[in-house]
Amino acid sequence: MFPTHRPRRLRRNPAIRRLVAETTVEPRQLVLPMFVKEGAREPVAIRSMPGVFQHTRDSLRKAAAEAVEAGVGGLMLFGVPEKRDATGSGGIDPDGILNVALRDVRAEVGDATVLMSDCCLDEFTDHGHCGVLAPDGSVDNDATLSIYGEMAVAQAESGAHLIGPSGMMDGQVGIIREALDRAGLLDTGILAYSAKYSSAFYGPFREAVESQLKGDRKTYQQDGANVREALREVQLDLAEGADLVMVKPALAYLDVIRAIAEVSDVPVAAYQISGEYAMVEAAAANGWIDRKPAVLETLTSIRRAGADVILTYWAAEAAQWLNQG
Ligand code: PBG
Repeated sequence: MFPTHRPRRLRRNPAIRRLVAETTVEPRQLVLPMFVKEGAREPVAIRSMPGVFQHTRDSLRKAAAEAVEAGVGGLMLFGVPEKRDATGSGGIDPDGILNVALRDVRAEVGDATVLMSDCCLDEFTDHGHCGVLAPDGSVDNDATLSIYGEMAVAQAESGAHLIGPSGMMDGQVGIIREALDRAGLLDTGILAYSAKYSSAFYGPFREAVESQLKGDRKTYQQDGANVREALREVQLDLAEGADLVMVKPALAYLDVIRAIAEVSDVPVAAYQISGEYAMVEAAAANGWIDRKPAVLETLTSIRRAGADVILTYWAAEAAQWLNQG
């Protein structure tokens, strides 16, 4: 008891705080999501995500090289196509913007970082859903799966090291594993968006990819009320061959990250999404919070919850801060 015990002794200066810090954030644990826009001549600023751009093919290569220079662990690419259709055919076309960009970035950075691709139809469909629609307008799970398989193969052949299925269709990991193996792409891994919740915090992303969605994704993305369901999704994805599992969003789901980290026998990732980024940026722009420590505090909290890897729009900048010590 006090006065023998004084926990403040371990907080008295930066050196002792550094010595006893339980949680670290390192550049190699951060993955930068990036957007590339077909036909763009100039990078286009995303209004709701200050500092984030829809890249041209050229500016994407440059920004990728800079992020790698800063030491990020990976890059996650999203494509913004010029044309969309009912089945999202731009996603499986080897000349579709995402596949072209994967080849560009892989040529630029080689194996210096882990290149990842979003394997989902929503950026490529004219209705904005993550899968194809049945005649009654519902999202057709099984008809979507074979398209995901083809899309994954196209992305792997374009240079992705890890495929990121984010559509929350049942069986997506197994179908993609089977398609990759059939194509001889045995070393291409799967970063499974296992516990992806239907979230209001995806708002700014919808601007970033010019989403055509009306309505919501509640018939396939998870209900924020549930954690048991997330554990079930993880078990299924592990059984289907996931190499990493992911929780998304991050900040509003730290308990889910913790629960999954306790049972997963593969690395756990968390996606700090667009709305999480926008909230901090907006408050900082108003002078209401101090930007850098606020960003680092969120990243630390996600690591402390149990995430090995964090996808964050601050990845490159945070990596630079961390390198400076
Ligand atoms: C689906 C996808 C989404 C995000 C990543 N992949 C959007 C959604 O599910 O509506 C959101 C990422 C973010 O908000 O930063 N392809």
